[in-house]
Amino acid sequence: MNTAEIDKTRIPEHIAVIMDGNGRWAKQKGKSRLFGHKNGVRAVRETIEAAAELGVKYLTLYAFSTENWNRPKAEVSGLMELLVITINKEIKTLMENNIALKAIGDLHSLPERCYKELMRAIRETAGNSKMTLILALSYSSKWELVNAANNLARDVKSGKVIPGEITEDTINSYLPASAFPDPELLIRTSGEHRISNFLLWQIAYAELYFTDKLWPDFRKDDFCHAIADYQKRERRFGKTSEQLVNSEN
Ligand code: IPE
Ligand code: IPE
Ligand code: MG
Repeated sequence: MNTAEIDKTRIPEHIAVIMDGNGRWAKQKGKSRLFGHKNGVRAVRETIEAAAELGVKYLTLYAFSTENWNRPKAEVSGLMELLVITINKEIKTLMENNIALKAIGDLHSLPERCYKELMRAIRETAGNSKMTLILALSYSSKWELVNAANNLARDVKSGKVIPGEITEDTINSYLPASAFPDPELLIRTSGEHRISNFLLWQIAYAELYFTDKLWPDFRKDDFCHAIADYQKRERRFGKTSEQLVNSEN
């Protein structure tokens, strides 16, 4: 399946992806976990390309979770190194394709070189408008929510926010990941059926798509299948199917 076969009138505006399975992919080949991560870069590139071709406006990639800091030291530093190299290499492609880079997560916990490279790429691509690519780095949803609660409590104390007047929009405004529209589609590779602390608030009504493909094997074709599957679903948002047909109800 390729991007030409997809109905362009019903493309999700925001797609989020849990890129999982690099370690198992490498293990199957008798190689190190880092070898798996390096081979995941092609899947990242293909996913970005496919999303841009289809007219997806926001693509969020879960690249490193808060919990991933607990992995073996060598794997963590290898991943950070890979991140610096990849961002540096891909800036040109992002510019050519008019893609703006953004990041969510505890970015200050990243090694300095990684943080600087990331900020440079964000700065350089800031004027691009075809698509926004959001990297979730040192991200976890509970981390984001705890941060939001602390900031909100501070603003209540200073009188900026009135208790009792807090709305969904207020909460959104304290969540960096909610600066973008909520994802309509969440894809997870590697056969695991879980969310792993990703965008808990924002995926309240997302369609979930799981594939057994390990991330380094994920291609444009797989991305298109996920969208085709999404397009077959009826998104009811609590209403009945009949109400959706007679949309005036
Ligand atoms: C996903 O692949 C990449 C990161 C979480 C950084 P994994 O490294 O989790 O691969 P598996 O799940 O062990 O196969
Ligand atoms: C989720 O994958 C995080 C990323 C893809 C960055 P993990 O491999 O860390 O998730 P668990 O531990 O299997 O739930
Ligand atoms: Mg994993």
